[in-house]
Amino acid sequence: MSTAENRAVPEHVAIIMDGNGRWASARGLPRTFGHRKGVEAVRETVRAAAEVGIRYLTLFAFSSENWRRPESEINDLFGLLKTFIRRDLAELHRENVRIRIIGDRSTLRDDIRSLLLEAEETTRDNTGLTVVIAFNYGARDEIARAAARLAGEVAAGRLQAGQIDAQMIDENLDTADIPDPDLIIRTSGEERLSNFLLWQAAYSELMFVPELWPDFSREVFFAALERFSARDRRFGGLSATAVALGS
Ligand code: FPP
Repeated sequence: MSTAENRAVPEHVAIIMDGNGRWASARGLPRTFGHRKGVEAVRETVRAAAEVGIRYLTLFAFSSENWRRPESEINDLFGLLKTFIRRDLAELHRENVRIRIIGDRSTLRDDIRSLLLEAEETTRDNTGLTVVIAFNYGARDEIARAAARLAGEVAAGRLQAGQIDAQMIDENLDTADIPDPDLIIRTSGEERLSNFLLWQAAYSELMFVPELWPDFSREVFFAALERFSARDRRFGGLSATAVALGS
């Protein structure tokens, strides 16, 4: 059995769940089957993350660019999120999981908005794994909304432009009280961030795995965590070895 025991477990793992469509196409199935199977991979990944003591797991479920997809696929993705919250919320709550949503909710339908709010409210005081669902999320949009909020403060005379620093921008992002991801995993072999957590990814380790999202299993996840634990994170400083050697 593959486990991540005795390894440095990242506090926050963020995942770009890519490859649902290709998974379905490879089997001659409609794309929607790939998304459905993708939800099963979400369940397995949430369980595995809680098991190894990860504190935050962020999942990119719907990007602000996904509106360019056919309406039927958009409806399907919204439907899957709704079903996931309706069916799994009670169990997630029992498992002490806290749910947070990031992304722009202002343009979402009322039924989706209230469901997202219900998931957050129900699990607000839970102390286990925090699952952050990025929904209608785009990093540039998130940064622009933070900038607009700060500009509003300046215009209202409550803030001087010169006082704005990185921490202030950080505090106005959707992820305000969430630590930056230590590890960002993207499935399906694509190697880009696609407008995901651009600000927060400044020092994240990036990992690209070939498996399509529906094939992402606890074994693949734990193998990625093992690879992460071998990485040397320097945050702009020197490696521990270099410090020890005085080089
Ligand atoms: C990327 O595959 C995946 C998505 C755009 C959506 C991910 C959504 C889910 C797994 C289901 C809902 C999520 C939750 C949290 C319940 P793609 O369609 O871009 O695949 P392709 O690149 O092969 O076409």
